[in-house]
Amino acid sequence: MKQLIDCLEAQRTLTKDEFAALIELSSEEEKEYLFQKARRAARTYYGNGVYTRGLIEFTNYCKNDCYYCGIRKSNRKAARYRLSKEEILSCCELGYELGFRTFVLQGGEDGYWKDRELAELVSQIKTRFSDCAITLSVGEKSREAYQMLFDAGADRYLLRHETANEQHYQKLHPESLSASQRKQCLYWLKEIGYQVGSGFMVGSPGQTPQLLAEDLLFLRDLEPQMVGIGPFIRHQDTPFAQYPSGSMEQTLLMIGILRLMFPNILIPATTALGTIHPYGREKGILAGANVVMPNLSPLDVRKKYMLYDNKISTGVEAAECREELQKRMEAIGYRLLVDRGDCKQE
Ligand code: 5AD
Repeated sequence: MKQLIDCLEAQRTLTKDEFAALIELSSEEEKEYLFQKARRAARTYYGNGVYTRGLIEFTNYCKNDCYYCGIRKSNRKAARYRLSKEEILSCCELGYELGFRTFVLQGGEDGYWKDRELAELVSQIKTRFSDCAITLSVGEKSREAYQMLFDAGADRYLLRHETANEQHYQKLHPESLSASQRKQCLYWLKEIGYQVGSGFMVGSPGQTPQLLAEDLLFLRDLEPQMVGIGPFIRHQDTPFAQYPSGSMEQTLLMIGILRLMFPNILIPATTALGTIHPYGREKGILAGANVVMPNLSPLDVRKKYMLYDNKISTGVEAAECREELQKRMEAIGYRLLVDRGDCKQE
């Protein structure tokens, strides 16, 4: 296995079967071998710096009905909210004071927000906070809409592909959505010039090592600037309520593999990872991640953006607790940076 890890480090890719074998790695010693290399790779580009992003979950209305997600359209129990432009701008104001230089506007696919209005908001934020980057994460749109938002000043776009395999995609989503359309959106975003983030859940129902290998090969083809992954975590009011959650160990292993594939990209230690283990964030960094995205949404709506059960939004997960997060990063030899945190060129 160490040979395979060396090979991945040198070539930045493997065959599908080799990836699948590596994904089944269980020896602690070999995993540590991988994580050490992953940390070293991240350090080459980012030193011991960790980038932060202020996450603003600005609407939990969604027209989609993904079987895994707590804010799916059919979940009548979800208490819906949407923030106003003024509320979003004051989140940025607060975030700026706290030291955030990237704001991530994330939301469900909410038809109330017209592309034009979102573009206007983006340009307002960019005018007011000219040294900040804006990341959008608002799902599938037309190429024209993506272009308009980019022209308005959006720098980055997050759109997880969720699974690269069409059959598996159909198991996780209703027919209105497809893996091919999702991939098309990602290629458009890249063409337009966004820094693009994709990713997937680890341990989603029906996922196998072979399917994870396909995810990695898809990412190799896409060449994204960011990859976000986290464990699947069940949500009680979804069709997937009975499925077991993905594991932290598997997620960490995938982070390590991704880091060796893409030494210079942005990889967050995600909220889902922080939710399944009290030190998930730290473990993610030590497996090769280099970004954290604390929650900057107004306190009264945080509990309503429940993608999965027990999603954390307080403690180090909260933007206002930046100092505590800083201390925890220092405890493992890292430090938070006040910086837009763009992807470094190879
Ligand atoms: N468990 C883990 N992650 C989830 N997401 C949505 N629902 C869940 C869940 N139950 C992730 C999806 C989506 C991102 C915003 O949150 O990957 O792209």
